[in-house]
This record gives sequence, structure tokens and C-alpha cells, in this order.
Amino acid sequence: MNIQHILSEKIKHAMIKAGADDNVEPLVRQSGKVQFGDYQANGIMGAAKKLGKNPREFAQNVLDQLDLNGIADKLEIAGPGFINIFLNPTWLANNVQHALADDKLGVHLNHTQTVVADYSSPNVAKEMHVGHLRSTIIGDSVVRVLEFLGNKVIRANHVGDWGTQFGMLIAYLEKMENEHASEMELGDLEAFYRAAKAHYDNDEAFAEKARHYVVKLQSGDEYCRTMWKKLVDITMQQNQRNYERLNVTLTEKDVMGESLYNPMLPDIVADLKAQGLAVEDDGALVVFLDEFKNKDGEPMGVIVQKKDGGFLYTTTDIAAAKYRCHTLKADRALVFSDSRQSQHMQQAWLITRKAGYVPDSFSLEHHNFGMMLGKDGKPFKTRTGGTVRLVDLLNEAEERAAKLIAEKNPDLTACERQAVVEAVAIGAVKYSDLSKNRTTDYVFDWDNMLSFEGNTAPYMQYAYTRIRSIFSRASIDPTQLSGEIHLSEDKERSLALKLLQFEEAITVVAKEGTPHILCQYLYELAGVFSSFYEACPILNAEESVKQSRLQLAYLTAKTLKQGLDLLGIKTVEKM
Ligand code: ARG
Repeated sequence: MNIQHILSEKIKHAMIKAGADDNVEPLVRQSGKVQFGDYQANGIMGAAKKLGKNPREFAQNVLDQLDLNGIADKLEIAGPGFINIFLNPTWLANNVQHALADDKLGVHLNHTQTVVADYSSPNVAKEMHVGHLRSTIIGDSVVRVLEFLGNKVIRANHVGDWGTQFGMLIAYLEKMENEHASEMELGDLEAFYRAAKAHYDNDEAFAEKARHYVVKLQSGDEYCRTMWKKLVDITMQQNQRNYERLNVTLTEKDVMGESLYNPMLPDIVADLKAQGLAVEDDGALVVFLDEFKNKDGEPMGVIVQKKDGGFLYTTTDIAAAKYRCHTLKADRALVFSDSRQSQHMQQAWLITRKAGYVPDSFSLEHHNFGMMLGKDGKPFKTRTGGTVRLVDLLNEAEERAAKLIAEKNPDLTACERQAVVEAVAIGAVKYSDLSKNRTTDYVFDWDNMLSFEGNTAPYMQYAYTRIRSIFSRASIDPTQLSGEIHLSEDKERSLALKLLQFEEAITVVAKEGTPHILCQYLYELAGVFSSFYEACPILNAEESVKQSRLQLAYLTAKTLKQGLDLLGIKTVEKM
């Protein structure tokens, strides 16, 4: 359930009855302080001003029209015209009961859009590095949330699988195959790429062949296509191992690389030219955009076709936007990539819109993110200054988690320990990223992310196991609880309210693409539960109170587990 939504609808209705126009915004928010109630409506003053009415008087008119019978106990006009709403505990209790009985924790699955999510998007014949990590885990979490709410999601792994570099890569693969190269060498894509480049730079005959292969590949030559496909497959098999290790939902079926759009590019460029949007400039085809200025203050030129006929990254993104709208029939297309690509995305989409390739209703969204920094505040690098390979990063996470868990709980069996180490290691890396507002750079700090205190994965995972242990220690089957939930203590009430705000949190994540909102919610939920657990004895309480409190505890555990799952983070029963 979405309390904020229910109250918004009701208050909006009352505001309209009191004279406001149809698109009035009640601005209902969770209250920051208990004395302001559970929710407050902040839209009264603005609406009153528009109507030329005294805000407090208008607030009273709205209250006269407002029917929150059974939902709220008390409504109060505060300050210059806020409305404070105090929810009815029986209503809260009934809704908690309902959430507990529901597979989806009472969340309404009324989202019905088709959403394309372009994320991860590594490049062929290159190892995935930490730069792709953010896109992969932020994108995957948003995808999970969108699907949970009922949307149809199409994952589009926009792999960099096209471009002139494939000439040299094919030539080098051929050379290696002729020399019976071992699997091992191909296993290290980074080294493969470097070696291909070295040959290209130093061996004229090789370079000649490479250039020849580019042309052949582009004209659809079968041999070159096969060699190209091999490179794509090897890369994606290796990436798939990373995805599985990271508990990311991408599969090989989700690859929609740049090459997919290649056949559409000539028509797009011809059309941009015919529409007068693209003009010839020094042999290239360029779209000049008034909305972007170059350093001389003139409209910025965006190249859509090079002098030699080649297309660019921007041209591909114009085609991708069109394809996602018309072929995939999506309502929204989300791209998760680095903030440094923001201008590129905005330009590609501005051209897409100017050319009329998508309707206004089609939403194109760049969910950009900042850089991953080392503890020194500089871009995250290895000690020798190289880019950190994702595999190495994950290996280190597991080594550190293993040490930590061995100290914390030496009694786990080997099998239990392995599961905990994996969950904590991967969880820590993901959560430390997901819990920060993605638009800023973030500092990658092992000690912080593996701490059992604060807003971290281990803290959240531990909070979950603690609740589960209430049940296991007392040998209580949580699916067999009975009786009504009663909210007589303040802490019980606060916990119930927090539990019912889960949908509000994930609705924001789905709309804004900001998983940190869900992390914050879960962290607060764990905190509210702790205060409840301290103030309200469970197992020693009288039977009906005990049953009621156990149900609150069980829904908390379920919500933590579900929430972490939407972040792509595993929970364990014991740690
Ligand atoms: N392959 C690109 C990179 O490694 C990211 C692609 C992002 N998506 C897009 N539609 N441009 O930087």
C-alpha cells in the first residue's frame, strides 16, 4: 500500500471540492517530527494563494470536505496552513496484517509500463573494470524494482561491439588461431587487446590487413562476421561470470550491442540530411545545436557521419532511442552510464526529438552517476596506477570478508561460512555503491563497507539474521502466527507505520532510478525495529501481545529480505 498516495488522492479531492482547480497538488509528505503527525499536506498555502483566500481558512474548508474516516484519528491545521494527519492505529494494524498475508508485502502491482533499461554495457575484447561496476549494479537494482512493481522490463546490454578496432582484433585473433594459441591467452582480454594494438602500431602488413578486415566486416563478409562473433561471445561469456558472481540478473540474451543499430544508421543520416537538420561541414555530416554552445559561444556541432563515411557513438544512440520506442514499444528508456556521457546522451536525444523520431510522451532518461574514487579522493586505481579489474576487486572483497567472518563467528560450518562470506563480500561492494546518491562521486573504502555498524550491507544482513534468530531460538514457526495485531505502544505503532512505507520508497526508486532511497528506508526500518525490540519484550509478553509482536517482527524480516533482494543483495539465516 502507498499511504502517501491514498492521502494525496483524498486531500486533492477535498481541495477541489473546496474550490481549487483540477490539477492542484496537495504535496503530502511523511512528517519529520511526531508532533506534526504521521503525514502532512503542504500544498494548502499555495492553493489558497492562487484562490486569493486566507490559507488557514482554506485549510478549514478543505478539512470540512475531507473524509478520512477510519484512516486518520486526528487532523490538525498548523502554522500558516499545513494540515497534520495522525493515522488511526487500527487502520495501520489491519494493513500490516494484510501485508503479512500477501506475497508482495501488500505492494500494489499497478505499474504497467514497458521500460527499456540500458545498463552494464561493457566493451568487447576488453575486461570489465570498475567503471562498468556502477552501471551494472545500479541498473540491475532499478530493474528489479521496476519488475517487482509490475512493469515489463527489457534489459538492453548496450555492449560496445562495433567500430574500427574490430579490424585489428580480427587480424590478431586470426594470427593467434594460426599459431594455435592457448585458451589462456584469450582468457586475458586486456592483454589480448594490448597485443593486437601493439601489432597494429608496429607491423605495417598487419595494419594493412586490419584495415582491410574493417571494410570486409562492414560489408557483411562471412569470415569476418564469424571472427567478430567469436570475439563477442568470448567477452560476454567472461562478463557472464562476473554477472553471476555479482548476483546481477543480466544474461546473454540481454545483449543488444551497438552493432544491432548499425543497419539503421544510413537511413537515419539520410533522413537527418533531408530534414535539413544535418548539414555538410568539411566533408562530415553535422547537426548544429543551438541548445549547446561551443567554447566560442556558437551552436555546437555534433557529427553524425564522419568524412570517411563512418558513423559515431551519437548516431547509434539516436537509432537506439528510435528502436526502443517503435520496435520495442517502450514507454520509457533508461540509460545508466557515467556522468561524463551526459552531454553526449542529451545531444543524441535532442536530435532524436528534433527529427520527430519519438513522441513527446516517450521518456528518455539518463540515470548518470559519478566516479568511484579511492580513499585518497582520486579516481580508483591499482597501487601502480592501473585500472582495477572487476575480478580482482571481487576477489579482494571475498578475502576481506572471509577474514572478518572467521573472527566474528568461528563456529560456522565450512559450508555456512562460504555462503556468508559470499553474501557479505558481494553485498558490501554493492551496498556501498547503492546507498550513495548516484549523482555524486563516491569513495570506495573497504573498512567502511565491511563495517557491522552504520548504513552498510553487513549491518543490514545482520539485522535480518537477528530477527530470524528470535524465531529459531524459541523454535517458533513464523508462518504459524495467529491473532490480531495490536498497536498499543508508541514503538509498535512507529514500526507498523515504517513497514507500511515500503511501497513509497520503492515507488521513488522506480521513478527516479535512485536505489539509495531504498537503502535509506531499510536502514531506518532496521533502526525502528531495534528501538521497538528494546522497548517491547516479545517472548516474555502475554500470549496475545507476543503473537502480535512476533507478527511485526516477521513482517520486518520479510521486508528487509525483500528490500535487500531488490538491491540484488543476498541474506543468510545465520552469520
Ligand atoms: N559502452 C559504453 C562505455 O563503456 C557505455 C554505453 C552506455 N549506453 C549508451 N546507450 N550509450 O562507456
